[in-house]
Amino acid sequence: MAKLIVENNGPLHGIVEISGAKNAVLPLMAATLLTDEKCSINGIPDLTDVFVMKDMLTSFGAKVKAEKDDNGISRIDVQADDITNIRGSKELVSEMRASTMVMGPLLAKCGRCVMPLPGGCAIGSRPIDLHLKGFKALGVTVIENSDESVISLVTYAEGLKGDIIYLDFPSVGATENILMAATLAKGTTVIENAAKEPEIVDLANLLNKMGAKIKGAGTDTIRITGVDKLHGAVHTVIPDRIETATFMLAAAITRGKILIKNAIPGHVRPIIAKLKECNVDVEIVDEGIYVNGANKELVATDIKTLPYPGFPTDIQSPFMAFLTTVDGESKVKETVFENRFMHVNELNRMGAKISTRDREAFVHGNTKLVGAKVRATDLRAGAAMVLAGLVAEGVTEISEIYHIERGYENFTKKMKNLGAKIERVVEEGDKVERHVGI
Ligand code: EPZ
Repeated sequence: MAKLIVENNGPLHGIVEISGAKNAVLPLMAATLLTDEKCSINGIPDLTDVFVMKDMLTSFGAKVKAEKDDNGISRIDVQADDITNIRGSKELVSEMRASTMVMGPLLAKCGRCVMPLPGGCAIGSRPIDLHLKGFKALGVTVIENSDESVISLVTYAEGLKGDIIYLDFPSVGATENILMAATLAKGTTVIENAAKEPEIVDLANLLNKMGAKIKGAGTDTIRITGVDKLHGAVHTVIPDRIETATFMLAAAITRGKILIKNAIPGHVRPIIAKLKECNVDVEIVDEGIYVNGANKELVATDIKTLPYPGFPTDIQSPFMAFLTTVDGESKVKETVFENRFMHVNELNRMGAKISTRDREAFVHGNTKLVGAKVRATDLRAGAAMVLAGLVAEGVTEISEIYHIERGYENFTKKMKNLGAKIERVVEEGDKVERHVGI
């Protein structure tokens, strides 16, 4: 399997350009199923997850064209005017659970879909009960076939009907799925306790460009007035706030200075606040965000993950890697996923001193990290291991890096441009990593 070899090369310096957001582009691509007309999405990151969603749309009969335009930004054109299949592929859903995001659009457009039950993953059981609660409220019948582990979803003859839906937890995926289904439902739908992530706002912006009538995206109450049909649109995906935060931490952990371009400061306020509590200098400048970890003695702080606008769970592991290097003790509380501390063992193999109790981790600061053979236990934990490897003595070898390539475009190249000593090595018989090919 491909590996990353990372060596301590001193503070990182330079400029990095943030790519399109993985967690925005996936629902945007799913939303293109809602119209017969062509949709174009610019700023597409070249990630394996985008490739999987491209395959998923194609499997339904959509025409999907991916290409670079003249200034190198990748664009995807989708036209779903002839949906010939409404059954999601087991292989694709198991490769990327977020492909369940096509359920809402297929129900709205075709009145039914059959989806393999998405497995849990390393970070948690990842149920979809809230997605299904929303669909049922809109008039969908859900039939679970446990032998084949698929669910069939069917709407009544008259189609989806708007309703008031309360989400017991502000689930990002459930909010997105229900939002997309509600755009073509009869009457009005209100999603209460909705997720407020920037990716939800980006999706609502595309849907409204397509002719939907959505108000309140970004707040905990979203109101959707159903329309008869949607038309094509052109949209550019927002920059990736999790990639932005990851590079902010790369400057902090290596005590370097990095200018992060094409970043939206308003999307990373918790990280700016927390890094400032650790004495890291963070400045919002015209081109983006300038992070200087070299100025002062850095100190510990506590973090607690919460739904947006709280501290993002996706940055919990990279931030924990950083906390092992500052002076003092830190407490990290993970409230979003039930099993998102697998990177703790990997960091401890590198000499970190972290203990856990339930959903809390206690990080001992000022530890001298030492290179070791470690693995990426999930997409963001993989990034955390790279950050740790940048400051560990000796060589760190990171395996299972396909996780990282799901969510970080050109990660190795961007790190190298900042002065990191990092190599991607491929061994005999390695599975060729797939890319969107754009
Ligand atoms: C999205 O996952 C992101 N993925 C995740 O990013 C992110 O960590 C997560 O939101 C939280 O911000 C994409 O957008 C593709 P949730 P999602 O539904 O939608 C529970 C990454 O690294 N829940 O908000 O699956 C669930 O078990 C990935 O980029 C239910 O109980 O997250 C979890 O504990 C990792 N029932 C919590 O809600 C449901 O029906 C948050 O899940 C749905 C969710």
